[in-house]
Amino acid sequence: MLVCICKGVSDRRITEEIRRGACTLRQIQDGCEAGTDCKCCVRQIRQMLASSGPARQSASESR
Ligand code: FES
Repeated sequence: MLVCICKGVSDRRITEEIRRGACTLRQIQDGCEAGTDCKCCVRQIRQMLASSGPARQSASESR
């Protein structure tokens, strides 16, 4: 499914960026350009980051 229509970036591509270590909107933008044009997709990208966040956070907190 396309998340960023302007840049033609799919949810899979954004998930891949998150898996590679992107944890901020800026890192997603730098990695695949999603959310760098009209910004309509930024909210969805943030939601994807938030839903992937707790697992990573709790992993780093346990160190
Ligand atoms: S839809 Fe992503 S920047 Fe426009």
